[in-house]
Amino acid sequence: MIKIFDTTLRDGEQAPGYSMNLSEKIEMAFQLEKLGVDIIEAGFAIASKGDFNSVVEVAKLIKNAEVASLSRALKKDIDASAEALKHAAYPRIHTFIATSDIHMKYKLQKTEQDILEITAEMVKYAKKFCQSIEFSAEDATRSRPEFLYKVLEQAIKSGATVLNIPDTVGYTSPLEIYNLIKGIKENVRGIENVDLSIHCHNDLGMGVANTLSAIQAGANQVECTINGIGERAGNAALEEIIMNLKTRPDVYPYQTNINTQEIYPTSKLLTNLTGVKVQPNKAIVGDNAFAHESGIHQHGMLSNKLTYEIMTPKSIGLADKRMVLGKHSGKHAFVDRLHELGFKFPENDVNSLFDSFKSLADKKKNVTDLDIQLLAMRRNVQVPQTYKLDCFVINSGNTITTTSSMKLIYTNLITNESEVLEEVASSYYGPIDASYHAIDHLIGKAFVLEDFLISAVTGGTDAQGEVYVKLKNIEGNIYNGYGISVDIVEASILAYLSAINNMVFEENR
Ligand code: KIV
Ligand code: ZN
Repeated sequence: MIKIFDTTLRDGEQAPGYSMNLSEKIEMAFQLEKLGVDIIEAGFAIASKGDFNSVVEVAKLIKNAEVASLSRALKKDIDASAEALKHAAYPRIHTFIATSDIHMKYKLQKTEQDILEITAEMVKYAKKFCQSIEFSAEDATRSRPEFLYKVLEQAIKSGATVLNIPDTVGYTSPLEIYNLIKGIKENVRGIENVDLSIHCHNDLGMGVANTLSAIQAGANQVECTINGIGERAGNAALEEIIMNLKTRPDVYPYQTNINTQEIYPTSKLLTNLTGVKVQPNKAIVGDNAFAHESGIHQHGMLSNKLTYEIMTPKSIGLADKRMVLGKHSGKHAFVDRLHELGFKFPENDVNSLFDSFKSLADKKKNVTDLDIQLLAMRRNVQVPQTYKLDCFVINSGNTITTTSSMKLIYTNLITNESEVLEEVASSYYGPIDASYHAIDHLIGKAFVLEDFLISAVTGGTDAQGEVYVKLKNIEGNIYNGYGISVDIVEASILAYLSAINNMVFEENR
């Protein structure tokens, strides 16, 4: 059995553009648990107050997976991790120190002897707080193997239960990592009593290939991220590793606890939360990963899907785009379809979801499985709607100044009292700018629009448009928002309001 250690919330989140607030991290952690990962690295507790709090909250809420917090090999880091993990059902302290000559000399100014001593001391120290201790030899792939073996042996003697081999700068090759892992298995005393883990970065585009090679050499834990997000070129992508194992069991006869049908929902959730889309040709989860455009391929697919399809969209939980329901479909059919797509909601949520479906079906003739999947996935991640769109009217054209009349319902999060807010704003730059000004006036705040991304969910002029925004408030905090509608101005307004609602929710936690 290969254990899957997900570091989307730590190594992934620390990459520029991927920051998530606390509620977003909690949503992601729940989805990772549903996906079936064995360990969730929730953050680097000492790095910031935000990181500390997310480790605390994820640790409190996650019941099946182990929750890990990263710590340098320093007492104060380990203390912070131990404190943050206090309420975890299964806590893991993850501590690391570099073992390559270049890191020891220029970054740490430490000798090999120093590193051996610190490893022993810090692993023993961490062991006082919990049973599960992971030790990482940073830059392991550029370390002298003989020295690496000594450090790993020391970590085992001091109580480490998992030894992680990071390819920190994405430098290794499949054959080289295979030999390194084999060497560790043959030369490190006690290795058979601990888990051996691999952590590959993707600087040369080899993260997944190197990870698979390490598994073949005997690694039984892999560290990876959803959509391969992470520092620089990212980390090895979970979905690619898993679908390699699943699609080629003849080459990789290994099992994991991952429910592959949760891969697409997890990838999409991360995109929705961070507003960063994967490239269209990204393996497994890219928009084109299952699209067959060429005539020859389409002909082959029609005769027999196996001609060009090595795995099915369904196996990763991607609903197909065919029409299933329309405006005359009843609630029963809708709920059945939701269940078939893997969603189960309490009655209240189903009712409001059905209302959303009905209003979508009024505007869009063909409501596809993908449309329904997106509606349902969004329902999972909504924070309270402090500001809810009631209606808007736009007057626009290429020869006039655009005006937007906006009506919102404001609900106080504490008293639950509501009031109607109305405002009209104008802009030379069109309906979205005018609408955003109207909202800014209504809530009495101004934001910098750091990012705005719009795309069509399916083909056709009646396709739903998805909008992602990143807003920066006056304190410099970034909030992500997502909106979806057949009307792209409405989708843009919904995305803006969703970012604002995220901000209000965070500020009132
Ligand atoms: O890439 C790396 O070396 C890491 C370690 C801290 C595990 O992320
Ligand atoms: Zn890393």
